[in-house]
Amino acid sequence: KMNAFVTNLMAKMTMEEKIGQLNLVTPGGAVTGAVVSEGVEDKLRKGLVGGMFGITGPEKIRKAQELAVNQSRLHIPLLFGLDVIHGHKTVFPIPLGLSCSWDTALIGRSARTAAIEASADGLDWAYSPMVDIGRDPRWGRVSEGSGEDSWLGAAIARAMVKGYQGNDLTRNDVVMACVKHFALYGAAEGGRDYNTTDMSRIKMYEHYLPPYKAAVEAGVGSVMSSFNDVDGVPATANKWLMTDLLRKQWGFKGFVVTDYTAISEMMAHGLGDLKQVSASALNAGIDMDMVAEGFLGTLQQSLASGKVTKQQIETACRRVLEAKYKLGLFADPYRRLDVQRASQLILTDAHRAQARATAARSFVLLKNQGQVLPLQKKGTVALVGPLADNHRNMLGTWSVSGDFDKSITVRQGIENVAGNDVQILYARGANISDDTVFAKKVNVFGKEIEIDSRSADEMVKEAVETAKKADVVVAVLGEAADMSGESSSRTDINIPGNQRALLEALLATGKPVVLVLFNGRPLTLEWEHAHVPAILDAWFGGTEAGNAIADVLFGNYNPGGKVTASFPRNVGQIPVYYNHKNTGRPYNGEAESKFKSNYLDAPNDPLYPFGYGLSYTSFAYGDVQLSTTKATGNATVTASVTVTNTGKYAGEEVVQLYIADPVASIARPVKELRGFQKVLLQPGETKTVSFPVTTSLLKFYNTNLKYDWEPGEFIIQIGTNSRDVKSASISWDK
Ligand code: IFM
Repeated sequence: KMNAFVTNLMAKMTMEEKIGQLNLVTPGGAVTGAVVSEGVEDKLRKGLVGGMFGITGPEKIRKAQELAVNQSRLHIPLLFGLDVIHGHKTVFPIPLGLSCSWDTALIGRSARTAAIEASADGLDWAYSPMVDIGRDPRWGRVSEGSGEDSWLGAAIARAMVKGYQGNDLTRNDVVMACVKHFALYGAAEGGRDYNTTDMSRIKMYEHYLPPYKAAVEAGVGSVMSSFNDVDGVPATANKWLMTDLLRKQWGFKGFVVTDYTAISEMMAHGLGDLKQVSASALNAGIDMDMVAEGFLGTLQQSLASGKVTKQQIETACRRVLEAKYKLGLFADPYRRLDVQRASQLILTDAHRAQARATAARSFVLLKNQGQVLPLQKKGTVALVGPLADNHRNMLGTWSVSGDFDKSITVRQGIENVAGNDVQILYARGANISDDTVFAKKVNVFGKEIEIDSRSADEMVKEAVETAKKADVVVAVLGEAADMSGESSSRTDINIPGNQRALLEALLATGKPVVLVLFNGRPLTLEWEHAHVPAILDAWFGGTEAGNAIADVLFGNYNPGGKVTASFPRNVGQIPVYYNHKNTGRPYNGEAESKFKSNYLDAPNDPLYPFGYGLSYTSFAYGDVQLSTTKATGNATVTASVTVTNTGKYAGEEVVQLYIADPVASIARPVKELRGFQKVLLQPGETKTVSFPVTTSLLKFYNTNLKYDWEPGEFIIQIGTNSRDVKSASISWDK
């Protein structure tokens, strides 16, 4: 039916109109490049626009849709997209934080709610999930992904695609997802945004591609090309990537849109003039051009000169029209444009409650010496820090539709949760950064760092006086929202120096200090870890972050998040990740370290390994039990452990399964995540957690890029994080 409809429509279209469908414009809104589309209304009338992004709201979108539907020759509806990344108006934690919940159902529900709100706000299409694997926390966009591991990343990608799209794209409460940034964007050299990438095919297939592939397998409707080059060719002109891999190997049937001006940026990459790079993009398999207008401006000429074919343009046009068909836009272009639905479904109490519970599950307790946390609901709390009462920095990066004024700050959250027996004293204590040049650089999207005009000394003094009057100090420190995210790479990933000085002064009072961190990336926290008794990583928790933080601080919820990206001790260790290879000279911490693979001045291991996170309670693991230690062929072996809650609080534990393959035809990682389960245990309770292990968990890409397993010994490891595991060995024959 769709095929016949699109064929029939295309038969009526001129070549100019077909190329028009490949044009994605923005009248402003979410501008992340040098160019903003011009003459949009005129182009709409002429049928020269396929989709728009950067506008929201059923009324505004209806105006644009009416223009296209009523005034263009063939009445083809537009597709309306936006960066709906971690929620829409109800903002959930940044994706890196969400991933630390290790709860794919919870994350899927956050995408579902984002879809409900975004579609009620008139949108058809969300530029999410962002599934770039990131092993370099200098790269600001690690905040938008799910960390360093492709197994977990793939599970989250599937959950998010399902959450956005549901099972029926014609419904008015779902949106089409767009997996991005295809591909390898997370491996930008030096962690510098938009930088080049270079890696072996094995590394690509094994560690970087699986989440994109998982999104495709989950039925994602669209894919966004990345800015970087892949094997020398920018992704946007990379035929191997966009056609051979994505379509031929993976069977992707949707459409590919570029990132913002990625076509014209290929001129700077050195691939030729606009006409050349636009032709290269189409030849590679790109269907839609975001903002560059390279397709609109040059494809007719390229067609005339034989640089592209009519069929290529038609294929791309067909894919865009099919997306509109699948979204039900031909049947009713206004299906997501109902003002009443918008007023009923956006930022509801239920969504806020969901955001609060989700945020609490994203937090990671990094340290809790002497059980400083949870706080008692009595006494005096000194709440200090530039992020303690700061609406502008609650939502985190890419929350374009979120209204920061509607967010709950930590101060408000504590006031809501602590109860009448807690006295709350507040002092700002420091600016986020005293470096005004730096502050200006991160001043984007109107979330500028507010600068208090008092001197640093004056502010610290006030904070210290406040701390002295309290029983406990809660210091809310870290990054401003836009110190991470796009175009926010950093070479120094400490908390800013003036905030460190404040922390030192607070610790010098001798009062117990709880550090609540806001950060969009793993920070280097060696000093903080050595000196501060309790550290709670709250990422950027979204609209309800303040309430969620207070819930955790006062023990209404026992934190169970685990980091999904290793926290380096210092920047010199980067990249540091758990699934590294052994090398020929492995260093295992023994006294003799010369001529082994290590550093003279720092350990090899990170401060907090992948999968690490504490709880207010404690968990004891039994030994790994295998249903057999010798398996053959397609057997299913059960690997299990008992986990006991040995502490005083009910708590959730993420039980992690890793597998090591010590002998293979290629050098393999020391271990790889191959399963995880989150269990809730009451104090004293023991549960047996079992994982079915089949040969599908033993497979890897060999030198011929064949995905297969090799017989031999495997070490099955189960534990509370990637470092602290119990092991058992199994031999597996073909
Ligand atoms: O979706 C984004 C992408 O992640 C970065 N560049 C701009 C796009 C559209 O806003």
